Amino acid sequence: MVNESSKIDMSSVASKIANIKSRMTLPVIASPMFLVSGPDLVIAACKAGAVGSFPTLNARPIEVLEQWFQRITQELDEFKAAGGKPAPWAANLIVHRSNPRAAEDLAMTLKYKPEIVITALGTPANVIEGVHAYGGLVFADVNSVAYAKKSAAAGVDGLVLVAAGAGGHTGPISAFSFVPAVREFFSGPIVLGGGIVDGAGIRAAEVLGATFGYIGTRFIATSESIAAEGHKQMLVDTTEEDIICTAHFTGVPANYLKPSIVKAGLDPAQLGVRAEKKFDSRGAATDETKAWRDIWSAGQGVRAIKGVVSVADLVAELKSGYDKAKLVP
Ligand SMILES: Cc1cc2nc3c(=O)[nH]c(=O)nc-3n(C[C@H](O)[C@H](O)[C@H](O)COP(=O)(O)O)c2cc1C
Repeated sequence: MVNESSKIDMSSVASKIANIKSRMTLPVIASPMFLVSGPDLVIAACKAGAVGSFPTLNARPIEVLEQWFQRITQELDEFKAAGGKPAPWAANLIVHRSNPRAAEDLAMTLKYKPEIVITALGTPANVIEGVHAYGGLVFADVNSVAYAKKSAAAGVDGLVLVAAGAGGHTGPISAFSFVPAVREFFSGPIVLGGGIVDGAGIRAAEVLGATFGYIGTRFIATSESIAAEGHKQMLVDTTEEDIICTAHFTGVPANYLKPSIVKAGLDPAQLGVRAEKKFDSRGAATDETKAWRDIWSAGQGVRAIKGVVSVADLVAELKSGYDKAKLVP
């Protein structure tokens, strides 16, 4: 087993996961989303009993990241002091070499010690030691079995499997095939994402062998998300037929809303593939690099979004569907 060779004590990981789950109302992580998740969404998700997370790059400049960390920590501490039982929160680090803030964000993350750190778009190797030093868990976001093997060998505690249909940078593999393929060599916690829209989907993820469901798209259309109002409304107005998967904007396949591409003056049928990988849209605002800011993303589950709701109402709806699905023999 990969975990044995990399000397991870999975019994300690398992006890941490059991402890985390005891503070959650249902096994779901509100996944990190660029230009969408901020402290309001994270705090509301945690108070509702789901793990809340955000990409550290959403907070700019770095001083704002410290303010966000402080606010999240303080408000959840106050909630606890008042008798509440918040779920843990998670920080998402973009570890791709093109991210100039990777080292600074890691240092700030180590200072505020989130229980879970989710790495994306690169190797988690540089993050593991520091997070383990304070007792945190590292989950690596992967979209292929090969990357899952590499991350497991690097010594991560958990794997986030981004399956086909996901919003943002999607994987190509069906969840039905992805989870069992990774379970052949990884016995630790698995988080499964990609088109999960409801409580039955979260339960289905568990039945497949995952530990948590990972939901992004549905959390965009919440009052607490910092997504553009036009983005939220477009989610209400569209279905899976309006989603296109293209590597045009960042060099890596991602799912986008076609109407936002048209609105930006581009033809969704005429998109190529960007040669150089580029993950941050806020640098040069050329047509190719407007992804996320003007070209809006969503997963294939977009049809499930009927309006903008509060995070608490969304989590309550997911919980009710999850409980119902658990009754199915
Ligand atoms: C608008 C948008 C932005 C995203 N940004 C990030 C990001 O910054 N970091 C990351 O790890 N994943 C990012 N993702 C991917 C999500 O965390 C998650 O994998 C995905 O939303 C799950 O699929 P679903 O949208 O079908 O629920 C993003 C997704 C969306 C829709």
